[in-house]
Amino acid sequence: MTHYMTGLVVRSEGTPAELVELRLPEIGPGQVRVKIRAAGVCHSDLSMINGTLRPPHPLVLGHEAAGEVVEVGEHVTRASVGDHVVLNWQPACRSCWFCEHDQPWLCSTSHGIAALENGLTLDGAPVHVTLGVGAFAEQVVVPENAVIRVPPQLDFDLAALLGCAVLTGTGAIRNTAQVAPGESVLVIGLGGVGLSAVAAARAAGAGQVIAVDVNESKKGLAEAAGATDFVVSSENLSREIRARTGKRGADHAIECVGRASTIRAAWRATRTGGQVTVVGMGAADDMVQLSALEIFSSARILRASVYGQADTDIEVPALAEDVLSGKLPLDFLVTDRIRLADVPAAFDHMSRGEGARSVVVL
Ligand code: APR
Ligand code: ZN
Repeated sequence: MTHYMTGLVVRSEGTPAELVELRLPEIGPGQVRVKIRAAGVCHSDLSMINGTLRPPHPLVLGHEAAGEVVEVGEHVTRASVGDHVVLNWQPACRSCWFCEHDQPWLCSTSHGIAALENGLTLDGAPVHVTLGVGAFAEQVVVPENAVIRVPPQLDFDLAALLGCAVLTGTGAIRNTAQVAPGESVLVIGLGGVGLSAVAAARAAGAGQVIAVDVNESKKGLAEAAGATDFVVSSENLSREIRARTGKRGADHAIECVGRASTIRAAWRATRTGGQVTVVGMGAADDMVQLSALEIFSSARILRASVYGQADTDIEVPALAEDVLSGKLPLDFLVTDRIRLADVPAAFDHMSRGEGARSVVVL
């Protein structure tokens, strides 16, 4: 049977996203068809259309999602019809060098920022899907290793956020920075990712959690996430952070914007021997300047955290349990529930640094 559905598509570079009718492929062996119930508006989706990234077109936007399995192909063992699942945009093959060396988040079968193999078509021509998912649509067809089962008690809107912002932000704290009780943590950029990092730092027992944003309207959200301090970003950020951390600088800085200037600010605000964790995904030509001498004499560690440096198959269900048990309260994260047609307006909202996460509910 042929299935059609509505999806949010950018037809070519620079044109606005529009709702169009897409033809879904028949599902093949090992594939799963998921009815999307919630999809978060992530900054990486905005980066697909604002020139930060240069994806191929036509392109279905969206990658942070949860839904219900409606059909499974032959030989599928990971999911059954009716299961609630989170979509994984970096599924692990479990057999490449990285997977075999316990780094599934770097799996070398990654499809990059967009994939074609999902078999979707628009007016008979193949369509790419963002990060192999293409979640701003009524349905997706993905390989079974791209779905992770979660308990049905978890609301779909928060489940969707576990698939990107929450895993990324909490993983940066737990797996990459490995924040220890009592340490001071600076988080720059308070979108869905940064606010998740703030909440995880607090849950990890961090002493001071200093939340920074250019937009002062983020203060309430920073407090809701558990920040001990809120600072509006300025030229004098490192001086301000030093003043609040015994003149030394923070033990950890977590950069959740994706710009050279904020990576540089994170570096300067971190103490000698401290660690900077870069979570934001920036542009290829945005260069960070660090002198050879300061790299040596500051003895700092600079690390990137990709998709929370996590084994998603283990950590997404664990996060679901943490949310359901109240260990990781994240209710403040969903600030707008919207329809597919409202995604372009949510991008404007996000560009102005307003709210935490807008989530499309279907
Ligand atoms: N200094 C401090 N905060 C800033 C700055 C700055 N110079 N510029 C922007 N911000 C803030 C914005 O005001 C906003 O609150 O950073 C926040 C970014 O939030 P979102 O746009 O919601 O982004 P999010 O989805 O959380 O993603 C953050 O992680 O996965 C990557 O591609 C993603 O690079 C992006 C980053
Ligand atoms: Zn994302």
